[in-house]
Amino acid sequence: MILSRIIGCGGYLPQKVLTNDDLSKNLDTSHDWIVGRSGINQRHIAADDELTSDLGLAAARNAIKDSGISPQEIDLLILATSTPDNTFPATATKIQSKLGMGCGLAFDVQAVCAGFICAFSIANNFIKSGQAKTALVIGAETYSRILDWKDRGTCVLFGDGAGAVILRSEEGNDNKDRAGILSTCMYSNGDYYKALYVDGGVSTTQTAGYLRMEGREVFKHAVEKLTSAANEALNLASLNIENVDWLIPHQANLRIIDAIAKKLELDKKKLIITVDQHANTSSASIPLALSAAIKDGRINAGDIIVLEAIGGGLVWGAGVARW
Ligand code: ACO
Repeated sequence: MILSRIIGCGGYLPQKVLTNDDLSKNLDTSHDWIVGRSGINQRHIAADDELTSDLGLAAARNAIKDSGISPQEIDLLILATSTPDNTFPATATKIQSKLGMGCGLAFDVQAVCAGFICAFSIANNFIKSGQAKTALVIGAETYSRILDWKDRGTCVLFGDGAGAVILRSEEGNDNKDRAGILSTCMYSNGDYYKALYVDGGVSTTQTAGYLRMEGREVFKHAVEKLTSAANEALNLASLNIENVDWLIPHQANLRIIDAIAKKLELDKKKLIITVDQHANTSSASIPLALSAAIKDGRINAGDIIVLEAIGGGLVWGAGVARW
């Protein structure tokens, strides 16, 4: 049986840090409001000449280094982003060229904050079907370019960054303790298109537009849908919440993450949290949180990890892996 295994992980954050106090100098907000409602203390902001492809490339190089493979071994590159360099071609192809991959397939996935889990799920299915052997899955975003910096209800919540993982096909027996991706599940419901959207685009306004959000509506769906997705992915892997060592949720808001842990009856010590330092980096948030937890030694061989995210669409999903 073929399983795909996570063999490397890396992140990249732009150098510039914007604190809540920095924001409150030009906006009617405060550190206490932002941290109290979201758990966010600071976010990173890309330099003017730094593009999504630059962030993604840096994270990819870190993941490749961590895995010990060469870029030429990668035969599938999926970039999750909703802030591409250009309308087309796919930003993934620019990263493919800069990495010197040489061959294989590179394309973008657009599922907003659920982009990484969607790309991860697609890569897993390519590997399981034998269509790819080594996949690079990246989440990279420059949300600072689509934020309305006068809208205090949204601009305080997001940041820029990138994260990446390398997945590799491994043949093996049916031993139930094998490391690898055990399950994924993905859903969308376009009835909530306007709950979280960008008010511009190629076919509508010919501008990039700004992010607009019904905060309370998104909050409610996030708690409900991420709880059910985690339970479903665990069920598909024939596991339950007691088996979970680490939950790595999309880092949108600490209150959402706490509410999910409560509904799942999961000990809060098993949550990986980076939203306080990175804010919401959309599709980059899960691989950034994963690489932080690997770097500090929290995740160990044999651990069961659950990844989950929700984003505009609405699109949501989860995945379970044994480390
Ligand atoms: N600073 C100070 N006051 C603010 C700010 C701010 N930055 N933003 C809003 N307020 C004010 C509002 O104007 C309002 O004032 P009023 O009562 O005088 O009208 C008051 O605070 C309450 O506003 P609400 O929007 O009702 O505040 P709420 O408690 O719902 O918190 C928040 C807002 C943080 C956006 C919350 O709804 C939330 O976290 N929602 C989920 C958002 C999210 O995580 N989205 C991303 C998930 S999907 C993805 O990642 C793309």
